[in-house]
Amino acid sequence: MKGNEERAADMAAQVWRQGGLAAFPTETVYGLGANGLDDAAAAKIYAAKGRPSDNPLILHIARKEQVLSLVKEVNEAGHLLMDAFWPGPLTLIFPKADCVPYGTTGGLDTVAIRMPSHPQARKLLERVNLPIAAPSANISGRPSPTTAKHVWEDMDGRIDLIIDGGAVGIGVESTIVDLTESIPVILRPGYITKEMLEKVVGEVAIDPAIMGTMDQKLHPKAPGMKYRHYAPKAPLTLVEGDEVSVAAFINQKVKDAAPKTVGIIAVEETKNRYEGGIVKSIGSRADMESIAHNLYDVLRAFDNENVDLIYSESFSEHEFGQAVMNRLKKAAGQQMIHLNAE
Ligand code: TXA
Ligand code: MG
Repeated sequence: MKGNEERAADMAAQVWRQGGLAAFPTETVYGLGANGLDDAAAAKIYAAKGRPSDNPLILHIARKEQVLSLVKEVNEAGHLLMDAFWPGPLTLIFPKADCVPYGTTGGLDTVAIRMPSHPQARKLLERVNLPIAAPSANISGRPSPTTAKHVWEDMDGRIDLIIDGGAVGIGVESTIVDLTESIPVILRPGYITKEMLEKVVGEVAIDPAIMGTMDQKLHPKAPGMKYRHYAPKAPLTLVEGDEVSVAAFINQKVKDAAPKTVGIIAVEETKNRYEGGIVKSIGSRADMESIAHNLYDVLRAFDNENVDLIYSESFSEHEFGQAVMNRLKKAAGQQMIHLNAE
């Protein structure tokens, strides 16, 4: 008899070969997969998510060699980054080969590819032996799913299969690096930081549009980064300042908002400073990985509890903190209050 994981791999491969949709765990977030070489299958992804069709998908592969048939060329930086970080949470953008349909790339001549490290994702991708196009498995505009239950909440009745691999490890989406410019450019920050990339390839740039600047003239190069993404239902405000001032400010807002319900995103070190509202600890301030891991689950929990407003503490943008703050700022639609400002 085959084990559960083997049967799951058979089922997903069958769904994908028949042009269907199967959600699966990766080390970052759950993906909603379809055959990336089949325009019609990719179209089903856009329909299930309610996603604008100009927003390209990432192809997921099991082996590095698969890249060669999907791209026009791999430059030196590409080889170095693939060797250093694949399998893992790094997506690379290459000029696309003719076999990759425009239905997958949102009409672009480039293609995003990643090789996940999650053991179950790897098993599925090995079994099907096709590049699998997979965005995060959420309804467009909702926080990305980090458990199979999150996928179920959004996708029940819309897709053919959900593979349950438990909670994912990292909790925010992969770092995206564009290799089609003269130096590599980060289009979306993630677990693989600028510092880690620079150790391998030297200078790396960051797309200025991604760090939540208010400058409307800047257009992010990753089309998906322009949408109000990762959004909880209630308006979210980020509050930055020292611990005591932030708690005092939020406590006052909770009183002012009554009888409305206020959700508060705090950390282990500060959660007892809050006097009202629904307080959720997102992790330990000393451990950015715990904060990333819990972020989307906390945002979804506030959706389920139907809070009217959410206030969140703010975090360091150092290294992996940049990815976490990028997602929080997007969830907040750039609403940020700076206390203790000079
Ligand atoms: O961790 C991840 O990357 C997850 C898991 C499932 O692998 N996937 C994911 O996919 O986050 P998605 O579709 O939610 O985000 C993909 C992002 C979008 O912002 C999209 O615009 C960008 O990648 N993207 C895809 N292809 C691109 C291209 N050719 N050029 C520029 N940006 C691209
Ligand atoms: Mg997404």
